[in-house]
Amino acid sequence: MKLGVNIDHVATVREARYHGRLRGEPDPVQAAQYCEAAGAHGITAHLREDRRHIQDRDVRALRRSVRTRLNLEMANTPGIVAIALRLKPDIVCIVPERRLEVTTEGGLEAAGQWRALARTRRRMNRAGIDVSLFIAPNPRQVDAAVRIGAQFIELHTGAYAEAFARPAARRRELRRLAAAARQAHASGLRVNAGHGLNYANVPELFGVPHLVELNIGHSIISRAIFVGLETAVREMLDTMAGYPG
Ligand code: PXP
Repeated sequence: MKLGVNIDHVATVREARYHGRLRGEPDPVQAAQYCEAAGAHGITAHLREDRRHIQDRDVRALRRSVRTRLNLEMANTPGIVAIALRLKPDIVCIVPERRLEVTTEGGLEAAGQWRALARTRRRMNRAGIDVSLFIAPNPRQVDAAVRIGAQFIELHTGAYAEAFARPAARRRELRRLAAAARQAHASGLRVNAGHGLNYANVPELFGVPHLVELNIGHSIISRAIFVGLETAVREMLDTMAGYPG
């Protein structure tokens, strides 16, 4: 199981002081280099329409410097799609976006928007970019991802993370994730997962089969404040190491 580190929060800290300026620390590109040096398999950044953290210049610099795999999280809107087609990340993960949310809150309503998503999927694939869809572990959404022709889904683990302290609810969410992963795998989709994952709740995910990659941001960047980014990444890789596949 691979680790993609989401570095948005590094830019969040920079923007808190330097918003609207073309410089400032901490630099998300340097953070990505530390993550890669520590063994991360990919770097994830979300260019939000409101540019609250990652800026256009960051994704351009990341494209130049990332040596592993660059995963651009994005909304399916014309402006961002055009940027992605020019940028050519290795993969895009299409997410829903709401202006007032603190972070991406729900999964995509892929079933309801399949035509628009299929069109973007085709445009990305023609440009050599793989497509992942961030969806809830719900059979309707997995079916829609198959119909859209995505290469990957990223299962939204937010409900699992929220339920983690309540054993019955946690087991229910794990069952939903496992069922969605099996359904997707059987249909030829590759399966990633992310949102709300941390050093405590990742080991319990080992019961979910077929996971290719976890995308993790908040917990790693938070831990990095105390132990440094390379150590925080290595600790997460150690946490993930027992995954049975
Ligand atoms: N995956 C997706 C699609 C996301 O939108 C996010 C949050 O930006 C993450 C993973 C990472 O979530 P967290 O910061 O809670 O680890």
